[in-house]
Amino acid sequence: MSSSSVNADAPTLVEQPVQPTSQSVSQQTQGRKADHLRICLDEDVQSHRITNGFERYRFTHCCLPELNRDEIDLGSTFLGKAIATPLLISSMTGGTEQAQIINQRLAKTAQRFGLAMGVGSQRVAVENPALTPTFSVRQYAPDALLFANLGAVQLNYDYGIEQCQKAVDALEADALILHLNPLQEAVQTEGDVNFKGLFTKIERLAKMLPVPVVAKEVGNGISASMARRLIDAGVAAIDVAGAGGTSWARVESERAQDAKQRRLGNTFADWGIPTAECLTSIRSEFKTRISSDSSELQATVPLIASGGLRNGLDAAKAIALGADLVGMALPFLQAASQSEAALAELSEALIAELTTVLFCTGSESLRALRQPGVITSRPL
Ligand code: FNR
Repeated sequence: MSSSSVNADAPTLVEQPVQPTSQSVSQQTQGRKADHLRICLDEDVQSHRITNGFERYRFTHCCLPELNRDEIDLGSTFLGKAIATPLLISSMTGGTEQAQIINQRLAKTAQRFGLAMGVGSQRVAVENPALTPTFSVRQYAPDALLFANLGAVQLNYDYGIEQCQKAVDALEADALILHLNPLQEAVQTEGDVNFKGLFTKIERLAKMLPVPVVAKEVGNGISASMARRLIDAGVAAIDVAGAGGTSWARVESERAQDAKQRRLGNTFADWGIPTAECLTSIRSEFKTRISSDSSELQATVPLIASGGLRNGLDAAKAIALGADLVGMALPFLQAASQSEAALAELSEALIAELTTVLFCTGSESLRALRQPGVITSRPL
């Protein structure tokens, strides 16, 4: 899909910095963000040789559900906030005029369909406050669960509680997502690659920040042992953002300015832990803990599944396997680049697919979908 093929129940999406200032770091970051949107919309940026892993699972069909489909409830709570639909518009953008329009469309959709939403890394606005409005979507989604976003690695590059609080305040966010993206930084020419000592810094931040901190990958996955260490450091929830969907190595390879960098991105295009594997291994890691010390708190680690999820059937599989919320990035970006109507169509389709799974498994709620026997793994 081309970013120029916008329709327009809204202003044209043009890639221009908003009110540029003399701050060169912020302009560089803005340029990178505009590149990311353009490449994600115009190029094939998904993994080819690795899948999200959900094809290994199938639901047990229920031929007589004893339910009225129209009474099925998709509601739940996440981090203490009620959500009508267990879907998250994953963190993507901000910082440019195009990004502002996309964020506003996404936020209106989140409000209308009861979805949760994250914005893209707010570093650009922390460095240049004139860009804050490109992220500030609370007015369009007064009731939505909203996530602020910064890269964890920035804690090694002069960021602390003050910058994190700014990001949260700009959005009136319910929580802060700290994204963990070592591969993306490693394949970028200008990447921030000092990841030393971050557990301690995350621990300190989680103690001081008044809203919960969520740790999230960007498409390469979080293993059970890393989830354990992050939770032990005080992180309130994990978004596995596993492999099988958008590949940041591929995106950065498209942006590369020289052959060496392009090759590096290409080599790692299919790197990571598939989303289903992250989810099942993290759930089993925390279940083990329940049986050994009966810690209820550990048993209920809030978990977001994302990375390569493309329809409501995969979303339902993720929920059945233990996810509390299911995130998608690229599908929402593609729809948002077209129109609010395209976003409504996508949201309605996802909700219909999810509801159909609950109906045809005889599950009246998300909780019922997690009962034993509802989903089984097939031999490979
Ligand atoms: C992203 N993603 C992302 N994640 C994050 O935590 N902070 C960010 O700033 C961004 N930026 C961003 C821009 C664009 C254009 C896309 C498509 C994605 C990563 C995203 O949230 C998600 O983890 C991955 O894209 C994997 O999900 P999908 O795309 O396979 O559904």
